[in-house]
Amino acid sequence: MTPTPPPDPLAKPIARGLTDSFGRVHDNLRISVTDRCNLRCVYCMPEQVRFMPRERLLSFEEIARFVAIVAPLGVAKLRLTGGEPLMRKDLDVLVRMLVAIPGIADLGLTTNGILLAPIAARLRDAGLERINVSLDTLDPERFERLARRKGLDDVIAGIHAAKRAGFDPIKLNAVVIRGFNEQDVVPLARFARELGLGMRFIEYMPLDAEHAWERDKVFLADEILDALAREVGPLAPAADQDPRAPALDYDYLDGGGRVGLISSISRPFCMSCNRLRLTADGKIRNCLFALEETDVRALLRSGDPAEAVERAVRASVAAKWEGHEINTARFVQPDRTMHSIGG
Ligand code: 5AD
Ligand code: SF4
Repeated sequence: MTPTPPPDPLAKPIARGLTDSFGRVHDNLRISVTDRCNLRCVYCMPEQVRFMPRERLLSFEEIARFVAIVAPLGVAKLRLTGGEPLMRKDLDVLVRMLVAIPGIADLGLTTNGILLAPIAARLRDAGLERINVSLDTLDPERFERLARRKGLDDVIAGIHAAKRAGFDPIKLNAVVIRGFNEQDVVPLARFARELGLGMRFIEYMPLDAEHAWERDKVFLADEILDALAREVGPLAPAADQDPRAPALDYDYLDGGGRVGLISSISRPFCMSCNRLRLTADGKIRNCLFALEETDVRALLRSGDPAEAVERAVRASVAAKWEGHEINTARFVQPDRTMHSIGG
C-alpha cells in the first residue's frame, strides 16, 4: 500500500465548506440563466406564462461574481439550466467566464436542444464539456402534446451537432409520465444506445403549474428497468456508481452503454444531496422543493458583495431541511414551477 502523502503546505485550504446540519457537503451549483423557454412542457410550465422582466435577471457578470464567491467555499461543479438556457444570447460568453474561475472543475448544460445546433461548436470552444438534452419522446405528435410546441427535428439536429462538436458525455433526459409517454422508454433507450449517448429517465415530480401531478402518473424507475431489461437488453448496476449522484446507473451487459434512473419519488436521494440552486433572478434555493429563498441579487449589485453573499449562502445551507416530503401528507408544492427553478 502506498503511504498517504503529507499534506501539501502550499495548498490553499477551503475556508470551511458548505456543510449543512445533516453533514451534507454542497459542492454542486445549478444556475438558472433565464426562466424563458421556447417550449411549454406540461410538467414544467403553464400554457400561458409571464416571464420575469429582464432587469430582474442576473447579468453574466453578476452570475460570475456569485460563482467566484462560492468557489472558495468548495463549489466545484456547475450546471447551467433555464427555462431554456440557450434562450440567453451568447451563452458561450458566460461559459468562458465560468470555466476561468479558480476551483471550478466541471461545467455542464441542460438544454431542450431546440437552439443547440447553431451554437454547439461555439459552446465547446468556450470550454463546456457536458451536455444533457431533455427529450421525452421520439414521436412528433407526442412531442407536440408534451411540449405544446413543435420542435422534435430541431432537437435531433441539436443532438447530432453536439456529437460533432465533441461533447462528452452527452446524455438524454426523459421524464416519464404514465398514460402519456411510457411507450417511449424503449425507443428512447434504443436511440441513445445507437448514438452512443447516455440515457436518463426521470420520475415525474410535482413541479408542474396546473398541479396535475398525481402519484399514479409517476412511471416508476423499477417499471422502466423492467421494460428495458425485457425489450432492450439485460442490465446490471454500474460498478462505479457514484453514491452521491442522484441517478442510479445501470450498464447494459453487452457493453452497449449506460442508463441512469432518477427515482426522486420511489427512492428519494435527499440524504446525499449536494446541490444548491441560483435562480435567474438571483435567489438561492437549497432544495428543488424549497418554500423559502434567499435573495442575493441586491447584494451582487452592491459594490463589494463577497462577505454578505457568503453569509447568505451559508445561512441558506444551514437552514436546509432533511428532504422533500412528497411521500407524506405534509408535502406542499412550491409556488415556483420547474421552469423558474431550473431543474
Ligand atoms: N418532473 C421531473 N422532471 C422535470 N423536469 C422539468 N419538470 C419536471 C417535473 N415536473 C426536467 C426536464 C429537464 C430537467 C431540467 O428537468 O425534463 O430534463
Ligand atoms: Fe422548457 Fe425544459 Fe420546461 Fe420543457 S421542461 S418547458 S423545455 S424549461
